[in-house]
Amino acid sequence: MNLKELKDKFESLYGAGEVRFFSAAGRVNLIGEHIDYCGGPVLPAALNLRCVVAARKRTDNIVRMAATTIDLTAELDINKLDSYRNLRWGSYQAGVAFVMKEAGFDIVGCDMLVDCTVPFGSGLSSSAAIEVATALCFSAFSAENGGKKAAKEELAVLSQMAENSYCGVNCGIMDQFASACGKKGNAILLNCATLEYEYAPMDFGDCELVVINSNKPHSLVDSKYNERRKECEIAFGLLKKRLPHITCLADVTSEELEKQANILSGKIYDRALHVVTECERVVRAVEAMKSGDIRLFGRLLNESHRSLRDNYEVTGKELDALTEAARSFDGCLGSRMTGGGFGGCTVSVVEKDKVKDFVRKVCADYKKETGYDAVCYETVISDGAFEITAV
Ligand code: GLA
Repeated sequence: MNLKELKDKFESLYGAGEVRFFSAAGRVNLIGEHIDYCGGPVLPAALNLRCVVAARKRTDNIVRMAATTIDLTAELDINKLDSYRNLRWGSYQAGVAFVMKEAGFDIVGCDMLVDCTVPFGSGLSSSAAIEVATALCFSAFSAENGGKKAAKEELAVLSQMAENSYCGVNCGIMDQFASACGKKGNAILLNCATLEYEYAPMDFGDCELVVINSNKPHSLVDSKYNERRKECEIAFGLLKKRLPHITCLADVTSEELEKQANILSGKIYDRALHVVTECERVVRAVEAMKSGDIRLFGRLLNESHRSLRDNYEVTGKELDALTEAARSFDGCLGSRMTGGGFGGCTVSVVEKDKVKDFVRKVCADYKKETGYDAVCYETVISDGAFEITAV
């Protein structure tokens, strides 16, 4: 929906008057998968698939919410924010309001209309985009009332807290951070242990990034996400006894892991092996991108997928089929799943002049193999969260 349409829709729901617009991004992760919650480095980028929250303050304690893409609404009393954990729709926003109120923001009643173009279940973080856009909105209204205002990094942390403690999804910080702090044309190299970050210009020379949705829906709650986190904690606990200097699993090097292999049982070792080698791949991928070695970058994407498939077991037959179809195309330098896995999207690096053929061929092969219709998104790497001021 464009802003004019969004404003019209807002006014038809809530009446005429001033409307503000808060935008946050969906994200694609280039490399560094399933290591954010182990303190590893990740390399996500913000997308032009976004969530825009249109909003206006009210004079009472009620937050009313509606959406452009689904026919559901919710109403929250800001004095009872603890009681909306099981809404059919709106618990992400309720969680953000709850967490921010606890953190001392001046949460005020308002009307909101949520317009989210990040496809749900795509692995491109629609939930993070909704949380961060909502957090930005509450922060702006709080500041307007003379209360606290959050920096972008803080928006990310608050949103993650909402998802963890309110919505019960034990996600890491990567999605919310990319959604809030992304920068046009850049990936973010984020150290998830310290939250230090730098921008890495995304220049793939003659190649470009192609994001394809397998259309096999994924769900972090239903999937094995929390189980993997547990396995990593077990690995860390055992390794820490032998390697007291480590503060997180990402601190372990592959040489150290190899030497300690005998203390980890089969699956636990495999999970740790993924984490440790994926951390190393991120470092190499950033160097490859900086030095323009896109072939190496592509190979690292392939290795990442292989490790997610064999060691971490979070891919599934659809993502495997989609990435295999991609890799077998002459002109594709590398392909991997992106996000939580078990469905959702893949990311590939493809020679620019072959992208159209690539998409056609890969989608056809994939359909033949799995029966699913894949969809390709035009990916423009964009800014993270901001208020849209020129309407
Ligand atoms: C989901 C989570 C992230 C991250 C990825 C896997 O997107 O929300 O925190 O763990 O999975 O890299």
